[in-house]
Amino acid sequence: MDEIEEATGTPVTIEDDGAVHCVPGSTGWGRVTGLAGHVYFYRSISSTNDRLRELAARGVPQGTIVVTEEQTAGRGRHGRGWYSPPGAGLYSSLLLRPTIGVDRVGWITLVAALALVRVAKEEGISLRIKWPNDVEYDGKKVAGILAETVLEGDRVEEVVLGTGINVSWEVEKVPEEIRMRGTALSLCAPVTPDRDRFLASYLWELWGIVGELESEKEDGAPAVASEMMAHLAYLGEHVRIETSEGEQSGICTGLTEEGYLQLDGGLRVVSGELIINVEND
Ligand code: BTN
Repeated sequence: MDEIEEATGTPVTIEDDGAVHCVPGSTGWGRVTGLAGHVYFYRSISSTNDRLRELAARGVPQGTIVVTEEQTAGRGRHGRGWYSPPGAGLYSSLLLRPTIGVDRVGWITLVAALALVRVAKEEGISLRIKWPNDVEYDGKKVAGILAETVLEGDRVEEVVLGTGINVSWEVEKVPEEIRMRGTALSLCAPVTPDRDRFLASYLWELWGIVGELESEKEDGAPAVASEMMAHLAYLGEHVRIETSEGEQSGICTGLTEEGYLQLDGGLRVVSGELIINVEND
């Protein structure tokens, strides 16, 4: 534990469930904790989102972060799993209680994707945002974001924002169906980024953009929308989206004021899965 205290410069306690709990108010990881609150580090846990939801129910402050080396039941969207062996990725969840209207909550996932794009850029990696919740390199998924939101009327009560980032893959160990559609920073970066620094920078960046969202007036798209658009994958291309009401397709022309996907002919897709790039003009 002394090692952690020394490395993070942060006072540390051990929870009953084995979590290393860094408390606010110091440097290093404390750059995040100093701003955001408490960080709970685990060696292995079922899912950081599940753990953070439990902590949120106990009333931990906004900004609380759960990080783990491994997830035994990492979750993706639509009930899918998330590949989470030790060392391969960064698995984290951040608790937000954002002071934004329900209409803007869709931006939270995109804001997280943008934060990742910015941090990767500093490492010499050019990533793209695949609406609504993926970050890609060269058409392959590098990171996925799972925002679990609790609404109270027209107020956003809480968002548990989980991010899985594929950092360092030993390709032969990765199941084929995951390898086919995904990749890791180690495979697309000039140098594999330092894990702790990358995660701390990402959370710092994310926290900052959420703050900007909160401080803006609610009408129209947020100021960061144009930057997101510049990194949006499949812009100007013909796309196919699977939605709960069936399939929609068209040329992707950008994002709406609410963060929906805009297709040509005025079509707006509220939520769904961008399956495939059918044809390129
Ligand atoms: C997706 O692409 O479907 C979203 C994947 C989100 C995975 C992350 S890993 C950390 C957090 N904990 C979870 O159980 N899921 C998210």
